[in-house]
Amino acid sequence: ANQPARAKRLRSLSTALTIADLKARARRRVPKMFFDYADSGAWTEGTYRANEADFAAIKLRQRVLVDMTGRSLQSEMIGERVAMPVAIAPTGMTGMQHADGEMLGARAAEAFGVPFTLSTMSICSIEDVASVTKRPFWFQLYVMRDRDFVRNLIGRAKAAGCSALVLTLDLQILGQRHKDLRNGLSAPPKWTPKHAWQVATRPLWAMEMLGTKRRSFGNIVGHAKNVSDLSSLSSWTAEQFDPKLSWDDVAWIKREWGGKLILKGILDSEDARAAADTGADAIIVSNHGGRQLDGARSSISMLPRIVDAVGDRIEVHLDGGIRSGQDVLKALALGAKGTYIGRPFLYGLGAGGQDGVTRALEIIRTELDVTMALCGRRDVRDIDRSILDEG
Ligand code: FNR
Repeated sequence: ANQPARAKRLRSLSTALTIADLKARARRRVPKMFFDYADSGAWTEGTYRANEADFAAIKLRQRVLVDMTGRSLQSEMIGERVAMPVAIAPTGMTGMQHADGEMLGARAAEAFGVPFTLSTMSICSIEDVASVTKRPFWFQLYVMRDRDFVRNLIGRAKAAGCSALVLTLDLQILGQRHKDLRNGLSAPPKWTPKHAWQVATRPLWAMEMLGTKRRSFGNIVGHAKNVSDLSSLSSWTAEQFDPKLSWDDVAWIKREWGGKLILKGILDSEDARAAADTGADAIIVSNHGGRQLDGARSSISMLPRIVDAVGDRIEVHLDGGIRSGQDVLKALALGAKGTYIGRPFLYGLGAGGQDGVTRALEIIRTELDVTMALCGRRDVRDIDRSILDEG
């Protein structure tokens, strides 16, 4: 790459001190329809906002005169060693936040030592990501009506050496996001004056996008039957995703895959019990980042109940609203073994490609490390409820 340009980008990224800083930069660099796609939730966006806001209400105990040397953030998620218990969540269309976004994200995660999850609805394909990484990544599966295609995706994830399958359960039908409909979201963008303007006002993004061939859904186009055009993502999803998905299907997928399985999108204790009964390796307490059932409670507010219900039978992870290392620590305190970041990853990517993702991870790592120490703890694996001030 161009060394002086990279040095300049790194200098500039080093002045981003929070995930909010990266978000502001992403807004300036990414065409509106794609920035909005990341920064949106379903309907009123109430659940999206609650995911973030409910973290602020959780209070930590300040402790002093505890030896704070030799701290460690290393941990494990589903038996895999992680540099910190923060994985990259699967996000669709990531290669539209930045050219080759999924490949860049996976490389940043690999260098950092945290898991990367590739979405079914990615721009770069399973094979693209495998070609630029050595650390096995995780593959997120959406169940389509066409079970042959589901089998085909599972086979490709196996062939690519993916070490876990993340099966998403909370998107049998799509929760409406007003911004996407208003923007006429598509990948690649349509050539109407409105869309051309959005792209033209982001020249750096556009130039980088011209430098790659990956501009449509890499796992789908050319693989699924009768798909050449995904220009209306919402109608394609309605047509293809299976609204009849059942626990029997989960059992079938578990057999078909045969490896580590994570069930994503559990927000209810009853569903958590059914998920634990499947013998999966972990569940992710999640409301899809507030993008599906608007009016549902935040992930963090549901975590304690779900940990109480199944925490002794299955590993419990959480995503939704994590914007800092403090948030990670609070989730661990309430019983999560691991966490995921969706939007913070996308903001980092939009702000600065691979270096921007690394920056997002660094910000969270520093916050997690310092906050843990000020709570009087040295090892992230020892975090429990006693670090919280529960009034
Ligand atoms: C998502 N999410 C998601 N989940 C999934 O299983 N498959 C997918 O393709 C996507 N796509 C997607 C796109 C975008 C733009 C976002 C923001 C999210 C949900 C994602 O995995 C995760 O649950 C949330 O992003 C977590 O919330 P935060 O960290 O974004 O607050």
